[in-house]
Amino acid sequence: MCGIFAYLNYNVNRERRYILEVLFNGLRRLEYRGYDSAGISIDFALSPLDSGASVVTTFSRPLVFRKEGNIESLVKFVYEEVAASELNLEESFTVHAGIAHTRWATHGEPAPRNSHPQTSGPENDFVVVHNGVITNYEVLKETLVRHGFTFESDTDTEVIPKLAKYVFDRANEGEGEHIISFSEVVLEVMRHLDGAYALIFKSRHYPNELVACKRGGPLLLGVKELTDDVGSGASFPEFKILKNGQPKELFFSSDANALVEHTKKVLVVEDGEVVHVKDGGVTILKFDNDKGKNQGVLCRPASVQRALSILEMEVEQINKGKYEHYMQKEIHEQPESLRTTMRGRLIRGGSCKAKSVMLGGIKDHLKTVRRSRRIVFIGCGTSYNAALAARPILEELSGIPVTMEIASDLLDRQGPIYREDTAVFVSQSGETADTLQALEYALENGALCVGITNTVGSAIARNTHCGVHINAGAEIGVASTKAYTSQIVVMAMLALAIADDTISNQPRREAIIDGLFDLPNKVREVLELDQEMKDLARQLIDEQSLLVFGRGYNYATALEGALKVKEVALMHSEGILAGEMKHGPLALVDENLPIVVIATRDACFSKQQSVIQQLHARKGRLIVMCSKGDAASVCPSGSCRVIEVPQVEDCLQPVINVIPLQLLAYHLTVLRGLNVDQPRNLAKSVTTQ
Ligand code: F6R
Repeated sequence: MCGIFAYLNYNVNRERRYILEVLFNGLRRLEYRGYDSAGISIDFALSPLDSGASVVTTFSRPLVFRKEGNIESLVKFVYEEVAASELNLEESFTVHAGIAHTRWATHGEPAPRNSHPQTSGPENDFVVVHNGVITNYEVLKETLVRHGFTFESDTDTEVIPKLAKYVFDRANEGEGEHIISFSEVVLEVMRHLDGAYALIFKSRHYPNELVACKRGGPLLLGVKELTDDVGSGASFPEFKILKNGQPKELFFSSDANALVEHTKKVLVVEDGEVVHVKDGGVTILKFDNDKGKNQGVLCRPASVQRALSILEMEVEQINKGKYEHYMQKEIHEQPESLRTTMRGRLIRGGSCKAKSVMLGGIKDHLKTVRRSRRIVFIGCGTSYNAALAARPILEELSGIPVTMEIASDLLDRQGPIYREDTAVFVSQSGETADTLQALEYALENGALCVGITNTVGSAIARNTHCGVHINAGAEIGVASTKAYTSQIVVMAMLALAIADDTISNQPRREAIIDGLFDLPNKVREVLELDQEMKDLARQLIDEQSLLVFGRGYNYATALEGALKVKEVALMHSEGILAGEMKHGPLALVDENLPIVVIATRDACFSKQQSVIQQLHARKGRLIVMCSKGDAASVCPSGSCRVIEVPQVEDCLQPVINVIPLQLLAYHLTVLRGLNVDQPRNLAKSVTTQ
């Protein structure tokens, strides 16, 4: 949900064309976070290092380019503008700071004036890119208007650069020289902002410097040494080796995808931190919100020392490889992603040792979990569905009541969360605003908070007491696929770990562990239905609507399958609990409406058989998903279309059953000529409420 990116080269010659391409590529990598408009800010003229001290007063003026539409629209626009201007693409900068943004609109329609960078005024004294939402922008705007500022956008962001200019002008009144540093300006701006944000500032007054800060939104700093290798142990602010002139490139990015092709050395910026890049050095200051608010003066916080980390990510992970789309790639890589999820966590056992599960991130808290009064699963969208799929096995093995909460609904109701609860937060990105707020709420109420995320270093990973990473690898398609199946597997392993101390269900646990070992092979098998699902998609291409009936372990599959179809193929689709069919949905059934019924073998099988009969009696147009060899049992008349899937242990069956539906959604979308990786109006990582 909005991606921000910045590139700063220090003491290394880079042509304007190169700088532009680094910024554009950064945005391309972040495009899945928002794609309704984009923008960049670069400098107009030579920087002082290039042109010598004598021309210091004539240097750079930030130029801003903004365009509605996707990144390629921006790229085309910028090159057209450059061609029509006096800007030279071959002009070279020894030091240059550029910022960039890709937007998912929250305040204001997608239009250039609402795109980022937002500016302080026509001179672009301060320009800002922002991911997040400023909740008190209306009050700030009123104040700034009273001070003579005029606003041109409908965004919440515009108050930020204007506030920066106000702070700067006030601080410099009567002086003529900079009396406050760029980071002090930003610290003072931060003191007035409420909401969640990650920001990168650029300024005409501080050429070749960047300041980034964050509270809530994710932000990484990437460091690429062009000579000496500093290793991962280097820490800021000692890390000022650029002072002695070593060439370097620095990047800010909303996530690692945009950094990994440049460098693996990163610093995860923490909430309240302000990162100032100047003269090739990096200084980190910690903003103390309460202190700042009470002081009513410019804060002068202490600098912080932080170690660099090394990204465990390969460039191949973020490329499409042999696939046409990320969603297609991510569906087909599930055998491997599941293997990675389970790697090192399943113990095969032996003659004197039982099969078991080892989840390092939670093992020290298992006793507390076992003593919980209940377990509450909290998430949104696909992550919620994954938790729903895992709920029955957790209840069965642990004997602890498990309740489900959609994060926004928990917050709306201020539903009860107790000290004796274990609250499990499920989130692929680890940064979904609703889930994060629910986490804060659960922490305030004293629950043990467990995170299940795919993003190491994410807010949910950092702010929970303990947790498990799903290790599914980067998921770039906006529709979540491989993360869903890995989440289910992690939660099944969680159930096994919690129940590890009970003898009575050991045979059941061992059967599930065997099933987990074999799961990637079964997933490979079910992926062979690809062509069959494409044929089915051809049959359904002109339909308006699709129902999916499931129950038990596969109620979640019905919800998730329907969610995939609706979000990417833009076809109305509804997942329905089959037990509820007679209480309303049956009225919709006729010979035209396609209905998928999930009827694989488990304790609910006979009930699903009778659902099929009842739908059949009303001439329902049925597509039945069943276990291999069961076609005749689920469709004796032979009048329905059957999808046969490999059978696995009942609690793992949702992993298998969702895959044909993922494939169906994918093919429907492509056949309908829609963008499967960037569905209309959506973005990955919903960082606003
Ligand atoms: C659907 C989808 C969304 C996300 C939801 C939560 O394909 O991806 O429904 O599951 O926005 O996101 P995370 O899991 O990042 O918290």
